[in-house]
Amino acid sequence: MRVLGIETSCDETAAAIVSSDRQILSNVIHAQIDDHQPYGGVVPEIAARNHLAYLQQVVEKSLTDAHMTLSEVDAIAVTAGPGLIGGVMVGVMAAKAMAAALNKPIIAVNHLEGHALTARLTDNVPFPFLLMLMSGGHCQILHVKDLGDYHLLGQTIDDAAGEAFDKVAKCLDLDYPGGPQIEKLALVGDKKRYQLPRPLKGRAGCDFSFAGLKTAARNLILSGAVVTEQDKADLCASFQAAVRDCLVNRLQHALAETPVEVSHVVLSGGVAANLYLREALTTVCLNYGKVFVAPPLKLCTDNAVMIAWAGLERLHRGLTSSLDFQPRPRWSLMELKNG
Ligand code: KG4
Ligand code: ZN
Repeated sequence: MRVLGIETSCDETAAAIVSSDRQILSNVIHAQIDDHQPYGGVVPEIAARNHLAYLQQVVEKSLTDAHMTLSEVDAIAVTAGPGLIGGVMVGVMAAKAMAAALNKPIIAVNHLEGHALTARLTDNVPFPFLLMLMSGGHCQILHVKDLGDYHLLGQTIDDAAGEAFDKVAKCLDLDYPGGPQIEKLALVGDKKRYQLPRPLKGRAGCDFSFAGLKTAARNLILSGAVVTEQDKADLCASFQAAVRDCLVNRLQHALAETPVEVSHVVLSGGVAANLYLREALTTVCLNYGKVFVAPPLKLCTDNAVMIAWAGLERLHRGLTSSLDFQPRPRWSLMELKNG
């Protein structure tokens, strides 16, 4: 079976076609970074208008690249939330129109489940597995028992990790999105140069906190301690090392309470594109005898391949949606169990 996936929940207009035998037949992304760059973050109204302007050509290209026509698609999977509601509505309305016109099944996909299941497409990770979901808006550790069956072990009590990267980058006048810029500069920086806090490190449980770390970095910048290009690189390295220590500590706590039948740990979401963080988490997993998996870089940040794949997994279990489902700005993974 071949499923068309559509993703419009943030600032990527994306369409992809994936088959049941794990082939990515096409993967088209129209990134809007240039349109949001001047504002230092995503402007919801601009994003929604761009989705409207580009979605049709993005879908057409995904079909052309896969050498298919729309009528050859077996089902349409679309991000139904969580996300910026204007953008989600554009994707959902387009998907519903196509599904209705062609009489094809439609699957309302939770964007976070898309990130969560990508490692099952790329690395055939079996259920149950441990998931670290680290994106611009989410930061959670979950026990994934089965499709749609998520148990929350811990989450951020303030900012998400990606958000902290973006905000510190903004203070340093780096381009949006900040994560890749900080990772790049950190390569030539000294991570011991600036003393930064490791919020919640050593405390019981698996919750995260990044607000104090972000504020400490910002205060350093405002105090005039970060001036030269080398200073900036050193701050990036020091900040990234602090994030690493927090993630490592929380993962250790999660692993200590993970059942033995869990063999894999998956890191997903945009922050999973960070190679420095991946390396540190790989070492933790090795120490606990677990296999560490993070999707290929281009499938970590938002894309429609993950939506098509999550749609396929649901389609195989007969979990299709009726045409009257609602787009949702908020939609936690834990709500999936009951639909
Ligand atoms: O999953 P994603 O593409 O979009 C959301 O659903 O939020 O995640 C975007 C986030 C941004 O905060 C971005 O700065 C962060 O992922 N990110 C990174 C890296 N690449 C993207 N953070 C750290 N290091 C990276 N290399
Ligand atoms: Zn995402």
